[in-house]
Amino acid sequence: MAAEHESFQLELRPAAVVGLEEIIDLDQRSFAMPWSWQMFIDELSGDDKRLYGVFPSNPDMSPLLLGFVCFHHCLDEATLLRIAVHPDKKRKGIASFLIREMMVLLKDKGVKKIFLEVGISNHAARRLYRSFDFQLIGRRPEYYSGTREDALIMKAML
Ligand SMILES: CC(C)(COP(=O)(O)OP(=O)(O)OC[C@H]1O[C@@H](n2cnc3c(N)ncnc32)[C@H](O)[C@@H]1OP(=O)(O)O)[C@@H](O)C(=O)NCCC(=O)NCCS
Repeated sequence: MAAEHESFQLELRPAAVVGLEEIIDLDQRSFAMPWSWQMFIDELSGDDKRLYGVFPSNPDMSPLLLGFVCFHHCLDEATLLRIAVHPDKKRKGIASFLIREMMVLLKDKGVKKIFLEVGISNHAARRLYRSFDFQLIGRRPEYYSGTREDALIMKAML
């Protein structure tokens, strides 16, 4: 899957054990509570689990990982579990590309609703999700064990 994006193109690729280090490294740079190797391995198996990396598809650009997205789906519902973009590549529409592609894949699977949780202080992610019509539907007090920050629950209809 490829899409035109400003001066470069983006390509979504399913993650595999080979190359997982790059995703784990980006996860550690992106989250206060990173996932373990085993948690990522678990995401690679099962019909309902999806983990994708996004890379530049232009042959003249470095083939480094730009971001990743992880989500689950079951019947007509899905959950966005994780999304991150390389710190040097933010605000270039990469997360938006990942969400758009996720939505296309989920629509094909018959999914109608997507849920997610986001830290209340994560204004970048909240704004990103709002731009895809995710609506606030609930709040989990002190949800994140490390920071004890509240999580907001958001939902979008496909
Ligand atoms: C949140 C994150 C995934 C956004 O990735 P990104 O590729 O920079 O996002 P995009 O370029 O697609 O941004 C789309 C829109 O989201 C909003 N947004 C993104 N980053 C923002 C920021 N730092 N401040 C305010 N709004 C922001 C804007 O509305 C933006 O549109 P604009 O650039 O035209 O104003 C990225 O900052 C990240 O990896 N954060 C760390 C991991 C994380 O918090 N993940 C979410 C967990 S719930």
